[in-house]
Amino acid sequence: MTMPTSQCPYRMQVHHIKQETPDVWTLSLFCHDDYLYQAGQYALVSIRNSADTLRAYTLSSTPGVSPFITLTIRRIDDGAGSGWLTREVKRGDYLWLSEAQGEFTCQNHPAGRYLLLAAGCGVTPIMSMRRWLAKYSPMADVQVIYSVRSPQDVIFAEEWRQYPVTLVAEQGAVHGFVPGRLTRELLASVPDIANRTVMTCGPAPYMDFVEQEVKALGVTRFWKEKFFTPVAAPVTSGLKISTLQPVREFHTPVGSTLLEALESNKVPVNAACRAGVCGCCKTKVVSGDYSVTSTMTLTEQEIADGYVLACSCHPQGDLVLA
Ligand code: FES
Repeated sequence: MTMPTSQCPYRMQVHHIKQETPDVWTLSLFCHDDYLYQAGQYALVSIRNSADTLRAYTLSSTPGVSPFITLTIRRIDDGAGSGWLTREVKRGDYLWLSEAQGEFTCQNHPAGRYLLLAAGCGVTPIMSMRRWLAKYSPMADVQVIYSVRSPQDVIFAEEWRQYPVTLVAEQGAVHGFVPGRLTRELLASVPDIANRTVMTCGPAPYMDFVEQEVKALGVTRFWKEKFFTPVAAPVTSGLKISTLQPVREFHTPVGSTLLEALESNKVPVNAACRAGVCGCCKTKVVSGDYSVTSTMTLTEQEIADGYVLACSCHPQGDLVLA
């Protein structure tokens, strides 16, 4: 079986699959090579073992603790990656993964006191780090608050019994759950919150709320996983983006990335890391002003020819794309 792309050189075999919740599955993978990663990192997965479609998923396992490398995936309607991984991939199949990536790890942000905050499927790096802290930093004071839609949506429900955790359920809260959403009061009740390193993962509006509230409570060490980017609704004013093939025109708010502009207008574009690392979102700009925050995977010739990484490109005026 040949490697679909040099970005995903690690071949892994599916050992077993576990359904976690009505719409989330964990795939346990066996890798014959050494696969180095840190708790909290993610990897790109070659979808359908092709070079065309890469998707980023958190490695929900923990190095030195978990017997397998695991991916924990929420099935999204029309999701090319999650649909394949949760519907079609079976035990014994092979997947191709990239090297582990990402800075959202406890090793990057060492501390004696943590507050880990997760919502929904954003719990995957949080559980990975929680296990890691239990094994490698057992004296650390770790508080976890995990928000879900309803009690049946708790991912790793059995395993959470091993660790102190506050579970928050928006609907149908039963004994053991705080009803509603994460609130300022709940955050303020965390002992000594201002002296904790706060790490959060979940939908962008949730993380924005967390950031605003914990900073208001005096937290100075705050990190969020910038991985879950919701697609914004298209707008009718702002900068104009035109594509030549097919011929289309749409608008994007000042300050958005080119990737956000393309996605919210349903222009097909590959995106995995969203951080200028994987190179998936390479796009050619024919004319217009823009700034870039990463050109990491582009050659000098490609940059000279107008190629950008859409996730790292900020239009400064109207743009025309090839
Ligand atoms: S999505 Fe990875 S470089 Fe843009």
